[in-house]
Amino acid sequence: MRSPKCILVTGGAGFIGSNYLNRLVPRHPEVRFVNLDALTYAGNLENVAGLTDQPNYSFELGDITDSVLVERLFDLYKFDAVVHFAAESHVDRSITDPTTFVRTNVDGTIVLLQAARNNWKAGQGLFHHVSTDEVFGTLGPTGLFTLNSPYAPRSPYAASKASADHLVRSFGATYGLPYLITNTSNNYGPYQFPEKLIPLVLNNARQRIPIPVYGKGDNVRDWLFVEDHCAALEIVLFQGSIGSTYLIGGSQESSNLGLVKALLDVYDEKTGQASGHSQSLISFVQDRAGHDFRYAIDSSETQKELGWSPQHSLIEGLKKTVDWYMKHSSWLSNILDDSYRTYYKSQYDNR
Ligand code: NAD
Ligand code: TYD
Repeated sequence: MRSPKCILVTGGAGFIGSNYLNRLVPRHPEVRFVNLDALTYAGNLENVAGLTDQPNYSFELGDITDSVLVERLFDLYKFDAVVHFAAESHVDRSITDPTTFVRTNVDGTIVLLQAARNNWKAGQGLFHHVSTDEVFGTLGPTGLFTLNSPYAPRSPYAASKASADHLVRSFGATYGLPYLITNTSNNYGPYQFPEKLIPLVLNNARQRIPIPVYGKGDNVRDWLFVEDHCAALEIVLFQGSIGSTYLIGGSQESSNLGLVKALLDVYDEKTGQASGHSQSLISFVQDRAGHDFRYAIDSSETQKELGWSPQHSLIEGLKKTVDWYMKHSSWLSNILDDSYRTYYKSQYDNR
């Protein structure tokens, strides 16, 4: 069991990073957590508002591509670990604007790796890179991603994350940087920005506007409740074997149409509507360019080694998620500003 003292957490005001900090900060008072986040459209201080009074937590506003800032923070805090969440994370945005993805996901990762290399001797420190199963490309109707799956990214987002994975491994091999990589399937749950499928569906259902399903809705994703993901990341941080890659999936596959229908059933039930009421909002729209057909992860090795398994079935996770979004309507309203409306129009008008 390792015992880091001061961890740089990048992107901790985003969806998964904030769930991670909200879980780990109170549970590990002996560890200092420094959240470095640029507060892009996806970063939101409301997500970590409950941590501001915790003595072992601090927030630093800044960009991971700013090497002067990152070096200054290493100097100031003497980090002995980095947990790297910060990224541009939405596939559709990567199709419109791939350059920003390379800047944050590739350039930003190398800035952090260089700072780790400059500040830690070989074999010292820990760099935990949080990545995606999308680096493995797309599956057909059968089979699972495993540790032997070749890298075959197909979207600019996936390619930028694959590049970051390779850079992290190269720093391990070349400079002796102790690293861990986790590749995870689609997360959902509290604090997810309403550009991703599940919160977008809930937001549109709330507003009674069309719910866009790409193509025929037969693409498949492996859904993982974010709290289960963060529980796995916590074990990886303290117990993962250096130089390892862990695949973390929910083993809860669903077609997009099946998922949207199940989610709307939960929503209708919780809002006192007749069953099927919201399904009339479903609208089939033009497919995503290069849309990966299916993702599904074999996380059996991770489960065996770490003693972790997802605790939520898809339906349980969806119920918790609907409850959270219903209780936090002001969180959602605060996000629905002009920039969100502009984004939405650019993606969905005339689609
Ligand atoms: P998110 O988009 O919700 O949050 C990203 C965070 O990073 C935001 O707080 C944003 O302000 C910050 N950020 C972006 N660019 C930055 C920069 N240049 N400098 C500093 N901060 C910056 O993302 P998420 O869904 O929470 O994903 C977190 C990580 O997990 C990402 O690396 C993503 O690739 C990976 N991941 C996500 C999923 C998923 O389903 N969401 C699945 C697998 C892996
Ligand atoms: P998304 O949440 O963007 O995650 P990812 O692209 O990383 O898997 O999308 C999940 C699935 O839902 C994906 O197959 C695309 C589809 N989708 C829609 O059908 N409609 C939408 O409006 C969005 C955002 C996604």
